[in-house]
Amino acid sequence: MRRVQCNGARLSLRDVTEADVAALHAVYGDRTATQYMPFGPRTNEQVADLVQEALAAAEAEPRRLYMLAVVDTDHRDVIGVARLHIEADHPHSAEIGVGLRPDQWGRGMGTDLIRLLLAFGFKQLGLHRIWGARAPDNLPAQLAMLTAGMVEEGRIRHHVHTPDGWRDSIVHSALQDEWTDR
Ligand SMILES: CC(C)(COP(=O)(O)OP(=O)(O)OC[C@H]1O[C@@H](n2cnc3c(N)ncnc32)[C@H](O)[C@@H]1OP(=O)(O)O)[C@@H](O)C(=O)NCCC(=O)NCCS
Repeated sequence: MRRVQCNGARLSLRDVTEADVAALHAVYGDRTATQYMPFGPRTNEQVADLVQEALAAAEAEPRRLYMLAVVDTDHRDVIGVARLHIEADHPHSAEIGVGLRPDQWGRGMGTDLIRLLLAFGFKQLGLHRIWGARAPDNLPAQLAMLTAGMVEEGRIRHHVHTPDGWRDSIVHSALQDEWTDR
């Protein structure tokens, strides 16, 4: 398997390892960071299981799941997690999801992260379409995706089941040809 390494100005992306569990738990285990996710805060053990699943998925051929550590290049610190999942029936298309540690929010890192993930998907993986779904009231995610060039496509009703019940999603997408033109 080819290891992922994708470098931006302030952030880089690489495959997660077992050593990243605590850093990922700072996102997936945090009540604020998970408030718009379909699940509540995860335990350390649940995050460790997710990492094991990601390590197994990384060996699959063809590879469909990329669970990536988001590294602050200045501090060499893992500050978040990014996922890119290629659809089995539509291998030109992938869904992305991102999460940063709350102490990192509001400095443009989320927007940079989505830009980097789009560059990874289009340039390194050769994808044509990359999309993400957000909670309707997740304003930072909306602004970060719009600024990074992901247009709003519409609403999927009752897309996900959360601990609070059914939740709609707003879908954003970017297309390779539009993205190259930007
Ligand atoms: C979504 C997320 C990655 C954004 O990260 P971030 O580093 O705060 O994003 P940015 O600093 O690039 O900000 C993006 C935009 O949101 C705005 N913003 C950030 N926090 C905000 C807040 N609390 N209220 C209102 N606007 C906010 C910023 O001003 C910026 O807008 P601009 O482009 O008009 O200046 C981060 O909030 C996060 O990890 N959330 C938890 C997980 C999550 O919800 N993931 C998204 C699932 S699709």
